[in-house]
Amino acid sequence: MSVRHVLTLGDLTAAEIQRIYAITRDLKQKFEQGVREPLLPGRVAALLFEHPSLRTRVSFESGMAHLGGSTLFLGKDVGWGSRESAADFARVLSQYVDVVIVRAKSHQRVEELARWSQVPVINALTDYAHPCQALADLFTLSELFGQVQGRTLAFVGDGNNVARSLATACGHLGLRFRLAAPPEHQFDQAFLERLRQIAPDVDLQMTADPAEAVREADVVYTDVWVSMGQEKEKAQRLATFAPYQVNAQLMAQAPADAVFMHNLPAHRGEEVTDEVIDGPQSVIVQQAANRMHAQKGLLVWLLGAKSAR
Ligand code: CP
Ligand code: NVA
Repeated sequence: MSVRHVLTLGDLTAAEIQRIYAITRDLKQKFEQGVREPLLPGRVAALLFEHPSLRTRVSFESGMAHLGGSTLFLGKDVGWGSRESAADFARVLSQYVDVVIVRAKSHQRVEELARWSQVPVINALTDYAHPCQALADLFTLSELFGQVQGRTLAFVGDGNNVARSLATACGHLGLRFRLAAPPEHQFDQAFLERLRQIAPDVDLQMTADPAEAVREADVVYTDVWVSMGQEKEKAQRLATFAPYQVNAQLMAQAPADAVFMHNLPAHRGEEVTDEVIDGPQSVIVQQAANRMHAQKGLLVWLLGAKSAR
């Protein structure tokens, strides 16, 4: 049987996401009651990280501990891409662990890892996608709104990894997606075609005008303008994205009950102002908390714990 990997949200169907959310809701409720069911006893997750992380690393590590499993944090010293071939690395690593959770500079290298891995590989962020983030974020929206279908998420900023994964999640679950970005940072044709294969009915519009994007938004979302690995482009990016700051003026263009989301870490004063991220519309802490719950749901679903409903 072929191994299931989650490298983008195109690797899951809408029904599978709903199933993961059912497990997530159950596990979150139990967690809040102080119950931590050991659904994955003895299972080991390798966390292979090339970039720094707070949320993703700690939420996966705590989540596995809650489920009765354990984690191995693997940094540069294991020599992925430097000590041996990618194939040898992946085939050997997957003899020891039950799942590989990988944060990498290059999406292609994660695809190659998955090609050779004999256990599931979960993308914990690449330059192309951040599926765990979007999976958790739409779970948060389901908590906030109940039914998410027909809602509108406006992403203001860089059409990069987080935005691509959010657009895919919205396509799956029937939310409208609006992207406000400078034309050269909007989605490219290859991604749009891929998205339409995954979610043929996706309602997606791109514009260079942030006010237009947020006008009917239930959610205003932003991410950093300078992602990990783009540090050399910092000066140019800060100038290009300056008109796309999510501040009180922009939030005033959105419906008054819109929520504000950010995957974090935030560069306050750049893509978002303190008044917005610390304001009453902001749900960033609930959003970050749900990273752990949704990833526990994903792990239980993927590793097939017998007691998962
Ligand atoms: N949002 C997110 O993935 O945060 P970290 O980089 O801290 O993991
Ligand atoms: N776009 C950001 C997300 C960080 C979680 C980055 O890739 O650095």
